[in-house]
Amino acid sequence: MSEERRIFKAAILTASDKGSRGERVDLSGPAIQEMIEPEGYTVTEYKIVPDDQETLESEMKRIADEGIADIIFTTGGTGFSMRDVTPEATIAVSDRLVPGIPEAMRAYSMTITNKAMLSRAAAGIRKQTLIVNMPGSPKAVKESLEFILPPLRHGLEILLGEASECARK
Ligand code: MTE
Repeated sequence: MSEERRIFKAAILTASDKGSRGERVDLSGPAIQEMIEPEGYTVTEYKIVPDDQETLESEMKRIADEGIADIIFTTGGTGFSMRDVTPEATIAVSDRLVPGIPEAMRAYSMTITNKAMLSRAAAGIRKQTLIVNMPGSPKAVKESLEFILPPLRHGLEILLGEASECARK
């Protein structure tokens, strides 16, 4: 008997001043969508927002509080530019932080480029929505997601009360 796979709701938030003004085509948001859909996610919201902390916070709050998504993937705004505030917005709206996810992304990405250490990406949980920051380039998105996607499903199952604990060896 084949077991049906749970489909999780995902929101994609691209933080980009130029993208939000229509001056740059967003390739990273669509790259996320392309990678997650075959892995059992349906995209319930996709938005390009400016690198503005207040806007990012209110979008994350709305998506989490209205149950629009089980997980929010953000891309962009994790670097050192004075406009890069996605981690600050994420930390501000999170009830609980999940440092292991960005730690894993950076550790794996460092095997590809040592510039990975320049991403300040964070992750956290607001209510029953997990928020995961990723760097802004489509290359960085692909490299980060390919490593973190497989174990994410288990975390979401626990968050949503569908799995109680990790299997003990
Ligand atoms: N991570 C991976 N896997 N691959 C990359 O090419 N680029 C880095 C880093 N993380 C990169 C990466 C670079 S050059 C920067 S400046 C930071 O992410 C921050 O990117 P952001 O400001 O677009 O979020």
